[in-house]
Amino acid sequence: MKHIIESQQFDRESISKLFELASSLEGKNSDCLRGKIMASLFYEPSTRTRFSFESAMLRLGGNIITTENAKEFSSVSKGEALEDTIRTINKYVDVIVLRHHEEGSLKRASLVSDIPIINAGDGSGQHPTQALLDLYTIERELGRIDGVSIAMVGDLKHGRTIHSLSYLLGKYRDIRIYFVSPEQLRVGENVKDYLRRHSVKYEETMSLHTIISKVDIVYQTRIQKERFTSLEEYEKHRGYCKIDLEMSKAMKDGSIIMHPLPRVDEISPEVDSSPKAAYFKQVHYGLLIRMALLKTVLED
Ligand code: CP
Repeated sequence: MKHIIESQQFDRESISKLFELASSLEGKNSDCLRGKIMASLFYEPSTRTRFSFESAMLRLGGNIITTENAKEFSSVSKGEALEDTIRTINKYVDVIVLRHHEEGSLKRASLVSDIPIINAGDGSGQHPTQALLDLYTIERELGRIDGVSIAMVGDLKHGRTIHSLSYLLGKYRDIRIYFVSPEQLRVGENVKDYLRRHSVKYEETMSLHTIISKVDIVYQTRIQKERFTSLEEYEKHRGYCKIDLEMSKAMKDGSIIMHPLPRVDEISPEVDSSPKAAYFKQVHYGLLIRMALLKTVLED
């Protein structure tokens, strides 16, 4: 495993090994990556992904160089091609964590890179490291992945975490997915084709109310304002299927609410103290998964 570009590249065995490693790293710092340098190259804003990768690298004894606004503060602003930027940074570091606004850009970057490239989100494409931490959260919180039912809610068209998590769930048995979205923001055919080929049962609906009591997980997502060309269109969907305390109580005992974050107004803050709220646990698990990923791609 050199580059981490899309969820489909993982199989159950590699996921299981990664999860074991992540669990073994909990609460520990080490110097196993001493002498290694990670570049975080972000063309789009981030709080969790960038800071967790940087924290992970530092906790493993490595170093970081970073640009949180590569669109403005790298030579791309002078017209440099992504490929040339990647070739250049290859000479300075051992791994590049890249977030880019264009779908497919991570694949392009990996084709010219001799060092590992990690996809930290490519436009509306994929966010595989988020999906891995989401899956790890499911295993840690529910004790299983096979057999779970999940409602994925919100902007399923543009939501890259939705795409990556769907591909990963396709590797497991007896999964049932309810895609809950407005008509205009339905999940793409490429994801549905993949699920059909992997015999994953899914349904599409516009109503969370009718299925909320059936599922083990509600995976809520933000309407992706930055992907809309019209603010009016965004405002039409904003706050779609907001989860409040009443709705969380309609969920079955032992079920969980997840969200990749950031949230805007999809989950009321009053839900945060519910035992079902797992979204800040995801943040913690994300650090462990990213430590495990860096150790996996960087250790000889
Ligand atoms: N979940 C996620 O990717 O969050 P950030 O945009 O803050 O990195």
